[in-house]
Amino acid sequence: MKIDLKEGDVTKFQTQLLVVNLFKGVREPAGVTGVVDSALGGSISRALKAGEMQGRLGETLVFRTAAKIPAERVLLLGLGDKDSFGPEEARRAAAVALWEAEKLNLTEMATIVHGAGIGGMNPTQASEDTALGSLLAAYRFDKYKIDKEKSKPRVRKLVIVEHESAKLEQMQQGILRAEAIAWGQNLARDLVNEPSNVMIPVEFASRVKEAGSELGLEVTSYDETWIKEKKMNLLWGVAKGSAHMPRLVEIKHKGAGDNDPWIALVGKGVMFDSGGISIKSSSGMEAMKGDMGGGAAVVGAMLAIAKLGIKKNVYGIVPAVMNSPGANAQNPGDVVIGMDGPSVEIISTDAEGRLILADALSYARELGASYLVDIATLTGASVVALGNRVAGIFPTDDRMRDVFMENVSITGEKLWSMPMFDEYKEQLKSLTAVIKNTGGRGAGAITAAKFLEYFTGGKPWVHIDIASKEQADKSYSCYRKGATGFGVRTLLRFVESW
Ligand code: BES
Ligand code: ZN
Ligand code: MN
Repeated sequence: MKIDLKEGDVTKFQTQLLVVNLFKGVREPAGVTGVVDSALGGSISRALKAGEMQGRLGETLVFRTAAKIPAERVLLLGLGDKDSFGPEEARRAAAVALWEAEKLNLTEMATIVHGAGIGGMNPTQASEDTALGSLLAAYRFDKYKIDKEKSKPRVRKLVIVEHESAKLEQMQQGILRAEAIAWGQNLARDLVNEPSNVMIPVEFASRVKEAGSELGLEVTSYDETWIKEKKMNLLWGVAKGSAHMPRLVEIKHKGAGDNDPWIALVGKGVMFDSGGISIKSSSGMEAMKGDMGGGAAVVGAMLAIAKLGIKKNVYGIVPAVMNSPGANAQNPGDVVIGMDGPSVEIISTDAEGRLILADALSYARELGASYLVDIATLTGASVVALGNRVAGIFPTDDRMRDVFMENVSITGEKLWSMPMFDEYKEQLKSLTAVIKNTGGRGAGAITAAKFLEYFTGGKPWVHIDIASKEQADKSYSCYRKGATGFGVRTLLRFVESW
């Protein structure tokens, strides 16, 4: 979808659908909505008086304009309470408007920006979120659908109309940001949505290379020989049960000087998690094609970071594997020593994410990263603790954690800080090796994080567990059912503000 910014008066603008908005409780519309109401001879205020709409967030009412203005229809869009309005509400409102246009089979639309000047949102932020909500809502993954369903019309063009010329330049900045973020985030969604018979490690690596080359971003894909040479045995131990060979994908963005520190973003890239020899039960197992949601978020964030030319030094590292119960698969009870850190007894081959991340974190330190972040669909226990809309953040560095938390009000990707007391390490003691890869029934999300901590070498680090946030079970925010790209904005904002 193409987004244009035009200066002008909405009552003179020709379009199939013109979107104007309304906060909750407003009976006599003011501003642009008021101007449109007058041009329509009071249709909007009459509908409001009749109680046809309250202005709740996402509520809509469509008016045919009967040639009173050049726009064929007007969509009145509820923004909810003025007091609780912010970036997430702007994105949600924009998404609802786009889906409304799709329901009407329209191919283009125009909108005013949602919420400039409200809730601390400047014109740049408001236009960013209006554009971003639209771009994320327009995303579809329908490449395998039959032609009939594919040919449903799409909204190809969105025009943002603004009458104050002084705001245009700031708004254009916001739109450019939205386009960069949506590009990264929608690509992350493709990586997750692709089935694992297509999205094998080699394919994952080549998609990253292809996207990166458009930006001149340095992408290296290391093969299984290199992985074994590097003694990444924890990574190889997971990978070796599959006929599909692993890759370690490294993305390098040098946006700052030679003496500036490097941040490493490490993402879990399990293309499909069958559980391996500790095989999962089959019900719902198809969702495990999304077990590279963390890796996809890293890729999406790196693409946005590069496209926006963020002046920071950042590595993106994704260990990409298939966790399969093959003839050469590792077994429970195996003892493995990785690139760095303690020996590990494999209790469950289904606790594979922490194994591949362990070697990837060691590698990030070898590259010279000073600050470590990892993001992973790591544990079902985190879903039990926090549900499927909130991710857990597990810090060893409170400053890093605070920066992540401060950005939640903008990213809308909810995070909740989890405890990292050393008491939890007790659960990882192994009889045969130094540590084991599972910690028993209690605090499963935390013991997974404590496992990872062994491989961070005392460097400042946060771990983010996004299990079941990578795919939406039903439509919410600006997502339909399916991959969300959760984490892309969280990582981007962290890098920008660190
Ligand atoms: N990929 C799963 C975690 C997961 C669960 C992701 C639900 C998305 C939705 C992970 O590899 C896993 O299998 N974890 C096990 C760990 C256990 C064996 C200690 C789990 O959570 O059951
Ligand atoms: Zn997994
Ligand atoms: Mn698993």
